[in-house]
Amino acid sequence: MPIKILGIESSCDETSAAIIEDNKILSNVIANQEVHKKYGGVVPELASRAHQKNIIPVVNQALSDANIAKNQLDAIAYTRGPGLLGSLLVGSSFAKSLSMSLGIPLIEVNHMQAHLLCHFIEDNGKEKTNFPFLGVNISGGHTQIVLCHNYFKMELIGETLDDSIGEAFDKCGKVIGFDYPAGPQVDKKSKDGDCKRFKFSIPKVEGLNFSFSGLKTNFRKCVEKGSNEYKKFIETECNNLCASLQSTIIQILSEKVLNAVKITGVNNIVFGGGVSANSGIRNYFNEKKEKLNVFFPKIEYTTDNAAMIAMVGYLKFKEKKFSNLKQSSKAKYKI
Ligand code: KG4
Ligand code: ZN
Repeated sequence: MPIKILGIESSCDETSAAIIEDNKILSNVIANQEVHKKYGGVVPELASRAHQKNIIPVVNQALSDANIAKNQLDAIAYTRGPGLLGSLLVGSSFAKSLSMSLGIPLIEVNHMQAHLLCHFIEDNGKEKTNFPFLGVNISGGHTQIVLCHNYFKMELIGETLDDSIGEAFDKCGKVIGFDYPAGPQVDKKSKDGDCKRFKFSIPKVEGLNFSFSGLKTNFRKCVEKGSNEYKKFIETECNNLCASLQSTIIQILSEKVLNAVKITGVNNIVFGGGVSANSGIRNYFNEKKEKLNVFFPKIEYTTDNAAMIAMVGYLKFKEKKFSNLKQSSKAKYKI
């Protein structure tokens, strides 16, 4: 009998529920929280309230899209961390109560592992990576290079020392008037811009770690200077600013990823996280396919979603890695 698992994700500002049958996704419902747009970033208290409002309709929708009833579920997987504590608690409390009332196992999932392991969701027979692989987690909260020995043995070998790569997109985008999250808009505008028009500095950071806070200051100063000299600077240079910013971010990222390949000798690379939707990053690494085995997630699995949580649920279910009601949510949770 195939295994059916409900996955629940509520670590930040997306409330999501998905049903997986073995490694095939039957449904993946995501409720975005528009409420944060006008604040330029996620407001934690508003996020947890929106999760409370969304969680029951989202779970019901996922069951109905998959055409299954609650009592057909074999287990419930939920995001234990990392994330905003108030948001995590909504998903975990819901998952715990439902598993108790249905009398089925509960499976806790690390959100960052899930961003990488969503690669293993069945997708029309598409090729999957072998182990070991380098997981490159690029999102609004994290920037990590992870050496993945097997599904559950993951070794963090590089991370950001300050801002995440997603923050670099979002905060710079805010400077030129974009709503949160600005990443997709920067990506779009970049396509019509000249990436050599502005030069931003590449930080010197030891080993495989990253830094993006200097770029943010660099970008803001460039925009302030330009706007002081010419009132319509942002308007006229918007596409060029975006293209130059994106190309600098790609340079910072690629230098470290290629270094990680050199140091570890591992050339299988699996990207994960919201920023892995970026077209510039995809183009850059896809052009290196002769030397590297590069895998990007399907666009719908890049930003936060419960399909990835359900996938890890399935992998853990097979190994009977169940959790219990006592395990508390973790705002900080190592990969
Ligand atoms: O993984 P995610 O949904 O949430 C976290 O766990 O953080 O990532 C959200 C981040 C935001 O910073 C957003 O601007 C960025 O992903 N993002 C993009 C693109 N699509 C989403 N950044 C650059 N280009 C994109 N196309
Ligand atoms: Zn995420």
